[in-house]
Amino acid sequence: MPAKDIRRNRSSLAHQVRYALRHPQRVPAYARRALRDTWLRLRHRDHIAYYRAVMASDAARSAEAAVGHNPSKETWARIGRMQFDYLTGHGLKPGHRMLDIGCGNLRAGRLFIDYLEPGHYYGIDISPDILLAAQDTLVREGLQAKLPYLALADDLTFAFLPGNHFDVVHAHSVFSHSPLNVIEECFAHVGRILAPGGFFDFTFDRTEDEEHHVLREDFYYRTQTLTDLAARYGLSARFMDDWEKLPHRQSKMRLTAVSDRARTVGS
Ligand SMILES: C[S@@+](CC[C@H](N)C(=O)[O-])C[C@H]1O[C@@H](n2cnc3c(N)ncnc32)[C@H](O)[C@@H]1O
Repeated sequence: MPAKDIRRNRSSLAHQVRYALRHPQRVPAYARRALRDTWLRLRHRDHIAYYRAVMASDAARSAEAAVGHNPSKETWARIGRMQFDYLTGHGLKPGHRMLDIGCGNLRAGRLFIDYLEPGHYYGIDISPDILLAAQDTLVREGLQAKLPYLALADDLTFAFLPGNHFDVVHAHSVFSHSPLNVIEECFAHVGRILAPGGFFDFTFDRTEDEEHHVLREDFYYRTQTLTDLAARYGLSARFMDDWEKLPHRQSKMRLTAVSDRARTVGS
């Protein structure tokens, strides 16, 4: 995995031409994706509806491919393990209650479910197709007795979840597919459901140059944009430096409520 490139603007014509010249074999697949996405965007003006349709189309081919760029089982398992090792190394305990936003087909969720006490894992996702694939993962891994919750969501207001409940909220590779208004909705409401001393970890595709998106599928943000947005909702942001050393193209941040900084659960 190459080092993170936080200066490149992947939406620029110059980048796309350079990329096409370097990887001509990928051009037909990209063109097909661009066409499909244009069609889906015309049919679904709302981002959640659009991205749900993208997931349905991707999951119809392969659930592993739908949650990651590389569809191989090995990469799927490796990225899940990386999330699990990091979070257990940074404060997650078996007795914690965890909300996994955009849980996908439980690439990491299966490891969290196994580790946490029964009923302590709550996964939400906007895609019914991927939640069905998540159930397949549960069956395959024999995790039924852990009784995880898997719920379909239409927004990130968490209105159906109890207040002061989750010690850990987690979102891996979700904001990398989200416009800023979706992230803002999450920041505006996540404080209500966090237990005292709880934290919210998420990854994002980082740029320290111009913010941009590609096909409204992949969104690139500056760290400061997300830090400032979090502060507007009483959340303090910490950039997780040691995540940068891992072989993953995204960056990670941790949010805690400014009001209970002194009682942080994790390290
Ligand atoms: C790249 S996959 C990652 C899945 C999982 N977190 C993992 O690491 O394996 C992104 C997932 O987030 C879901 N998703 C995207 N936007 C979402 C949103 N606003 N709320 C909830 N889930 C969302 C997608 O349906 C998809 O399952």
